[in-house]
Amino acid sequence: MAIQSPKGTKDMLPQDSAAWQRIEQTMRQEAALAGYLEIRTPVFEHTELFERGVGDSTDIVQKEMYTFLDKGGRSLTLKPEGTAGTARALVQGKLYAGPLPTKMYYLNAPIFRYENPQSGRLREHHQFGMECFGSKEPTADAELIITILHILNRLGLKDLGVSINSIGCPVCRPDYHKALKDFLRERLDSLCPQCRERFEKNPLRVLDCKEEQCIRATREAPSILAHLCQECETHFLALKALLSAQEVRYQVDPRIVRGLDYYTKTVFEITMRTSRGDLALCGGGRYDGLVEEIGGPALPGVGFGIGTERILMELSSQGIEAPLPRPCDVFVASLGEEARIPAFLMTQRLRRFQIKADCDHNKRSLKAQLRFADKLGVKLLMIVGGDELARGAVKVKDMGTGDETEVKTEQAPGYIQQKLAEKGEDVGHG
Ligand code: HAM
Repeated sequence: MAIQSPKGTKDMLPQDSAAWQRIEQTMRQEAALAGYLEIRTPVFEHTELFERGVGDSTDIVQKEMYTFLDKGGRSLTLKPEGTAGTARALVQGKLYAGPLPTKMYYLNAPIFRYENPQSGRLREHHQFGMECFGSKEPTADAELIITILHILNRLGLKDLGVSINSIGCPVCRPDYHKALKDFLRERLDSLCPQCRERFEKNPLRVLDCKEEQCIRATREAPSILAHLCQECETHFLALKALLSAQEVRYQVDPRIVRGLDYYTKTVFEITMRTSRGDLALCGGGRYDGLVEEIGGPALPGVGFGIGTERILMELSSQGIEAPLPRPCDVFVASLGEEARIPAFLMTQRLRRFQIKADCDHNKRSLKAQLRFADKLGVKLLMIVGGDELARGAVKVKDMGTGDETEVKTEQAPGYIQQKLAEKGEDVGHG
């Protein structure tokens, strides 16, 4: 039997490439407009980074990491998210010593989580993330939410729900933890087994459990928003004012707590509807203690991550067609054996003129070459050979109109460029 890809992974096949590249191009452009530069960090890091950064009581660290010992006996982990590695690189590269804030994005970084594969949950997925280090002001939070919405909007996605919350800071959270634990203690029997465990280690997480019994039991739970300290409340108010000023439609959802321990103050999610209920398309928030937690200076941060596979899911569920990539605009067919080398050289020449050109690589007959060119969906067909070749010319057929024109070999690239431009082809790109 042929070998299959591991469970929970997906290939990006060539026919999907145009859709991926359109998403990537939009992300790059919008990130650059907002002053974000690209960062790439290793696919694996020391396990300790995620234990300390993401938090060793989180589901991600406890259950979902791909952790292994290398041949030197070091514990390494495939990135289960992008923020901790970015923060580690910032500290190691001393980026905090430069002008602040320093803003970075990662594009389609592979992320690994040992999840139960189901719709929208992969064991390897790809994230675009934007991370801003060195600003504690809510303008940095608002800029991120506005930028990702702008990206999704440019991709054509509509009707996405934006939810925001504040989960406080080390000053106000202990007080809230106590109030929440007092509330939950009385209802422990009504919680799912996992939430009974969470009650001890991470009571906030009980609030975003998707089990019906937990949702019911926590309906009247105290809200973190009533326990925010002055600083967190001011920050949250200012964020809401900025989003409203930009006419962003959002809802405040005190149940959004996020599954990673580094968050402080702002958390947010953009959700999509699926047949299995709401699924997060994008998640993010502020992490003012993370850089210090992993051994760097005290430096606030805020960011988000969004899964490309989920964007593709949402695009298809909203009926937004992915463009089909066309590998070739002009096929250079050869008529007879003696035309093979001239056709090959013409193809190379056209490419130097930024024209997507190809020729036969399978010793096909002319008829078979024409059928192949048709399957490629080329705009123009060039035939090299016969009397034209002897006259120093080629024949160019417009596949749309069927018109054929004889063109001097020397003038062929210019003629093709002009014809493609008339057809609205962007010669020289993609
Ligand atoms: P996260 O919410 O765990 O946050 O993941 C961010 C996004 O990655 C999700 O909203 C979803 O689109 C995608 N995603 C997560 N898990 C999977 C999966 N198993 N299969 C497919 N897609 C998935 C983080 O990872 C944070 N580092 C985000 C962040 C950046 N916060 C601040 N800066």
